[in-house]
Amino acid sequence: AEPFVIGSKSFTAVAINTAAKAGQWIKTKLGDINRIDTKFSSQDLVTEVDKGSEKLIRNLIMTHFPNHSILGEEGVEPGPEASAKALQAMSDEEYLWIVDPIDGTTNFVHGFPFYSVSIALAHKGEVIVGVVYDPSRDELFVAEKGKGAYMHGKKTEVSTEEKLEVSLVATGFPADRQGALVVNLKGVQALSPKVRNLRVAGSAALHLAYVAAGRLSGFWEIGLNSWDIAAGALLIQESGGQVTDTAGKPYSLAVRNILATNGKIHEELQQELAAAEATGF
Ligand code: IPD
Ligand code: CA
Ligand code: CA
Ligand code: CA
Repeated sequence: AEPFVIGSKSFTAVAINTAAKAGQWIKTKLGDINRIDTKFSSQDLVTEVDKGSEKLIRNLIMTHFPNHSILGEEGVEPGPEASAKALQAMSDEEYLWIVDPIDGTTNFVHGFPFYSVSIALAHKGEVIVGVVYDPSRDELFVAEKGKGAYMHGKKTEVSTEEKLEVSLVATGFPADRQGALVVNLKGVQALSPKVRNLRVAGSAALHLAYVAAGRLSGFWEIGLNSWDIAAGALLIQESGGQVTDTAGKPYSLAVRNILATNGKIHEELQQELAAAEATGF
């Protein structure tokens, strides 16, 4: 049983409050970054604001739920193998918070206003709460398993487009320039003539929230991590959309190659991506 905590709040209330606090703090640090380091590759950036945001988030979650576990990007060794291992070691925890303290660090560093805070709570490996907060537009997307997804009190719903040719679709250019990016570029080459247009705005979590809100009809990216996806995946599922890996397997925390859509274009998009990967350039 949960221990009694003074000021006890629901999981969702804590997720919302924490994401909003972290996001507002991050925004005060825009243009005031003292140190930019690189992690796994020269394109994989981290600042003291990423670390500060993660610390703030950990502290707030621990205040309310001291028994819960937290998986945060900046608490894990860089690189795809280490992050997969860290998730594996924790994915059986009863309550696991999965945190991306700034999704879109490159945008944040350059002052390009498309970055977010992503916080999810998984119960025995299943995501039950997801929050993505965009401080630039002050938009907070929240989903609770089985109860729908909302943005500022209004239910979010995926778009109604049924064909790629009328769909606005997004992807990402992963920091892993050798492996994941090369695969992703095959998808870009195959898809760009088939869709209405492509967007690559630089925050996977926010792109997923936009699919949930019907602003995009689909999103895919190769080589992401659990903290990029977990909150956004629940937002989409609770908004009537579909989330799988790029091979069409149902979403789980371990999925790295994500395909998320309004459901209606899912199969068409998945087949195009599969064909692109099989044939290459
Ligand atoms: C990155 C962003 C970006 C995506 C990268 C991610 P970060 O997360 O989501 O859009 O293309 O693959 O790593 O490092 O800014 O949290
Ligand atoms: Ca990062
Ligand atoms: Ca991220
Ligand atoms: Ca991050």
